[in-house]
Amino acid sequence: MEALLSSTTTTTSLRPPLPPSSTTNPPLSLSTFTPPFTTTTTKTPYPLTHKTSKPNKNICSRYRVSATPKSAAETTVDISTVPSEMKAWVYDEYGGVDVLKLSSNVTVPSVNDDQVLVKVVAAALNPVDFKRRLGKFQATDSALPTVPGYDVAGVVVKVGKQVKGLKVGDEVYGNISEKALDGPKQSGSLAEYTAVEEKLLALKPKNLDFAQAASLPLAIETGYEGLERAGFSEGKSILVLNGAGGVGSLLIQVAKQVFGASKVAATASTSKLELLKSLGADLAIDYTKEDFEQLPDKYDVVFDAIGQGEKAVKVVKEGGSVVVLTGAVSPPGFRFVVTSTGTTLTKLNPYLDSGKVKAVIDPNGPFPFDRVKEAFSYLETNRATGKVVVYPISEEYILEKMAQ
Ligand SMILES: NC(=O)c1ccc[n+]([C@@H]2O[C@H](COP(=O)([O-])OP(=O)(O)OC[C@H]3O[C@@H](n4cnc5c(N)ncnc54)[C@H](OP(=O)(O)O)[C@@H]3O)[C@@H](O)[C@H]2O)c1
Repeated sequence: MEALLSSTTTTTSLRPPLPPSSTTNPPLSLSTFTPPFTTTTTKTPYPLTHKTSKPNKNICSRYRVSATPKSAAETTVDISTVPSEMKAWVYDEYGGVDVLKLSSNVTVPSVNDDQVLVKVVAAALNPVDFKRRLGKFQATDSALPTVPGYDVAGVVVKVGKQVKGLKVGDEVYGNISEKALDGPKQSGSLAEYTAVEEKLLALKPKNLDFAQAASLPLAIETGYEGLERAGFSEGKSILVLNGAGGVGSLLIQVAKQVFGASKVAATASTSKLELLKSLGADLAIDYTKEDFEQLPDKYDVVFDAIGQGEKAVKVVKEGGSVVVLTGAVSPPGFRFVVTSTGTTLTKLNPYLDSGKVKAVIDPNGPFPFDRVKEAFSYLETNRATGKVVVYPISEEYILEKMAQ
């Protein structure tokens, strides 16, 4: 298979320290919404018009691993009108996928002074979306009803008074909730519009389309922050447990291309080993056949993105670090929850624009906006490869497609 990443590219270590995190964004108030959340279609104008092309596909034959330069302006967004109501996925009780309802009359969120209003073109799902919907974080969640969604790519259609760096018309991407579990936004990205603090966004890399950009923020921020917290640096080795998921597929690339890892090993099931290698893994371990604990190698950092923290600590070098994203933690492992910041995305933009780090979109997607429940059901199988993306988020586009 064609190598996905150039082995001749010079690796540059980013290494600038991230700014200290600031205060948690308050959740939007209940008055943001117009209850009841019916699925009755209103005649709300949807100003999004698309000159469409599918996201870039398939360098690897089976996975959508892509950063190939695209033609400019593949999607045209009419930003002249912002309606008062919008379509959005909403739940007003915790539960399984069936609590999700597509409503046509959710109030478009208002914009605080430090926020911009983004016309959403694409969004991506993360496990935190369904764990939150299942009620696992009720103690720190914002109030119901909830429009889910952290990851967004879209176009700025309105700016708050204190916004300095972004303007109407800018194409942006980001993770809209600064703290994933602590008061995440009530009005998320699975909607036609979402309000986001300027500091959580970055300009969309020019060579990525909206679906690719939406696939990145939460997962790549998690990988980057975890590597920083682990003190990862050029010349160190890393084992990624779950290299094929949303976080792992980006983490492999960031560790290698951005931090300059000397060796990256990663686990996945048999059919995904080829993908791991294409992303830059030096060693792809088939967890269905081999137990990584039994292999002779030890690593400077073990990054657990599946919940194997107790086993992970057995293969770390003395003095090394074990990063755990989910499940039990044993010493010397530590767990953290990602903090969203546009600064990280801006730092990574050159790597994304050049294709050194590529978006990995699950080939079952992108899922159109009306198939979000299907997209969630798929993500919840724990078998997704790369990111599950929702695109396009535009009724006009969907109707256009149906008419064809
Ligand atoms: N703490 C934080 O801030 C933070 C941030 C992001 C994510 N997370 C958590 O981290 C976890 C991973 O997130 P994600 O978005 O990467 O999930 P994901 O995309 O849903 O992960 C799916 C992948 O898991 C792999 N997998 C399943 N069982 C495995 C095993 N035993 N060993 C290795 N791989 C296995 C699957 O590969 P196969 O089909 O080959 O099995 C599949 O490709 C989730 O629990 C998420 O909630 C935490």
